[in-house]
Amino acid sequence: MRIDIISCLPSLLASPFDHSIIKRAKEKGLVTVHLHDLRDFTSSKHRNVDDYAYGGGAGMVMMVEPIANCISYLQKERSYDEIIYMTPDGITLNQAMANGLSLLKNIIILCGHYKGIDERIRETFITREISIGDYVLSGGELAAAVLSDAIIRLIPGVLSDETSALTDSFQDGLLAPPVYTRPYDYHGQKVPDVLLSGNEKEIEKWRFDKAVERTKKRRPDLLE
Ligand code: ADE
Repeated sequence: MRIDIISCLPSLLASPFDHSIIKRAKEKGLVTVHLHDLRDFTSSKHRNVDDYAYGGGAGMVMMVEPIANCISYLQKERSYDEIIYMTPDGITLNQAMANGLSLLKNIIILCGHYKGIDERIRETFITREISIGDYVLSGGELAAAVLSDAIIRLIPGVLSDETSALTDSFQDGLLAPPVYTRPYDYHGQKVPDVLLSGNEKEIEKWRFDKAVERTKKRRPDLLE
């Protein structure tokens, strides 16, 4: 999979892709992440990417031209399955969405800033608008990192059997059950005996029951 991220602050995204699972996915050649600085696609002397909003009001708006130039430049090289705009007024990201996106070949993620992007970009280029939650971030970069991380770990071959995404929270519509490691006894708090029983069936049942219990308590909406 190839992910192209368009941003006016690409340095914000320098590190999230250089660690752990994402780093290994890159090393295995399963994903490439390309950062594009919007300022490289301006024609103005001062490399402005934003301007005042028509109609007045507080906040600047990201201009059509640099974004259109950058997307067109990328589209000349290859076709894209989705051009995603990160915005708090998009559809809220969930695991099902990440699963679907992880099967795509080429995607562009556009990070917004200021008061957002000129509406004509949304009308012309954007195929999906995604939010990572009902709160407003200073820009779309951290949201793009969250989305990319959620997608990349699901790309077939990225996770090994032990770290399989199949046991992640949400993957089966439930939150994940509690997990324990050594020591067995931490100041009197002991690991549930069933986990030491070696009885796989019992352990699986215990984990399922705990997942249901936790989901009922914390996220009853998932069970509806
Ligand atoms: N940009 C600013 N806030 C955001 C959010 N909650 N989700 C996605 N992009 C954003």
